[in-house]
Amino acid sequence: MVCLGNICRSPMAHGLLQHKVEQRGMDWEVDSAGTGDWHRGQQPDHRAIACMKKHSIDITYQSARPIIYDDFQQFDLIYVMDRSNFENVERMARNEEDMNKVKLLLSEIYPEGAEVPDPYYGGDAGFERVYQLLDEATEKILERYSCHTKT
Ligand code: 4NP
Repeated sequence: MVCLGNICRSPMAHGLLQHKVEQRGMDWEVDSAGTGDWHRGQQPDHRAIACMKKHSIDITYQSARPIIYDDFQQFDLIYVMDRSNFENVERMARNEEDMNKVKLLLSEIYPEGAEVPDPYYGGDAGFERVYQLLDEATEKILERYSCHTKT
C-alpha cells in the first residue's frame, strides 16, 4: 500500500488488510510505504491511529518508510492511493512486469481513476471516510485474490 507520506492513508490500508489477512489465517505479506521520505521512521499520524483504534485495529507498530525498487521484487501487487502516487511509482518501474503490479486501490471498487482523498489537511471525518473506502477496497482484494493463498 503506497501513498505520499506513509503516515495516513497507506498505514490505514496496510492495517486493514493485515487485520483481515490475520483473521482469515492467511499468509500474505502486507506492507506500506510512501513516495516521499519526510516522515521516515515515524508512527502513523495520531488521527489515523485514533480512527483505526475506533475500529479495533492497532497500527501503532508501523513505521513510515519510502518505497524502494526492491518492493517490486518483494510484492506481487502495489496499490497506490492516488494518481500522483501512481505516476511516482510508475517512474520507478523497470519493465512491464513491474508496471503491471501497480494499481490504483480504488480501481478495485470504482471505475478507473478514483482516488483515496488525502485526509492530512482535514479533520477526523476525512479519516473516517478514508477508512470506509479502504475497508470496501480491501474486502474486494480478498475476494479477488484469496484463492492465491499458499497452502
Ligand atoms: P498520506 O498523507 O500521503 O496519506 O500519508 C500525507 C501525509 C503527509 C503529508 C502529505 C500527505 N505531508 O505533506 O507531510
